Amino acid sequence: MVIAIDGPAGAGKSTVARGVAEALGFTYLDSGSMYRSTALAALRAGLDPADGEAVTDLARGLEIAVDGGTILLGGVDVSGDIRTPAVTEAASKVSAHPGVRESMVERQRAMIDAGDYVAEGRDIGTVVSPDSPLKVFLVASDSERARRRAAQTGEPFEVVLAAQRERDRRDRERKHGALRSADDAVEVDTTGLEVADVVSRVAEMARARGIAAP
Ligand code: DC
Repeated sequence: MVIAIDGPAGAGKSTVARGVAEALGFTYLDSGSMYRSTALAALRAGLDPADGEAVTDLARGLEIAVDGGTILLGGVDVSGDIRTPAVTEAASKVSAHPGVRESMVERQRAMIDAGDYVAEGRDIGTVVSPDSPLKVFLVASDSERARRRAAQTGEPFEVVLAAQRERDRRDRERKHGALRSADDAVEVDTTGLEVADVVSRVAEMARARGIAAP
């Protein structure tokens, strides 16, 4: 079973999903780290991230293991390597390929079927688990999201904002697994909110729906 936390980059998904998982005793799943790992593997193999056929072939054969905040690619910890700006850019491209998405969605469903998860991504509530009993769609203003990302990576705000707009466009316009709110998702605007408040609101919704123990 899964609580789905979707939304654009920088809306607060990771911090909120991690906090909710901890509050409820569920397992946290960062689906973006799987697309990032695929992008890293593609770059290391010298592939063009835009080459759908080659990247899909590669993705199908990858050994990806996600354990909370740690991600193993072929048994090696790549948790740090997948966060560079080059991988961020490549991940945005590889995640547009239907075959790549199919491979990642299949793996995510297998995990979710085997336990209680709080999963964050773009398509958890719409594609990976349309039956999720609690779907949250987090949003925040463009500038707040870029400010948060710039603080994390140390890149200039303007550079982050421009790259973010381009990735948002790709996320929203791709044919498969496009970023959108599920019809039955609860939308929460995190602009100016404390993380702890958002976490307790979502945890409260889970308890109120009987998904987690009171
Ligand atoms: O959330 P993130 O920035 O770590 O995601 C990395 C990339 O993967 C980003 O370009 C969006 C994409 N992604 C996706 O297409 N579907 C998901 N469920 C999660 C992430």
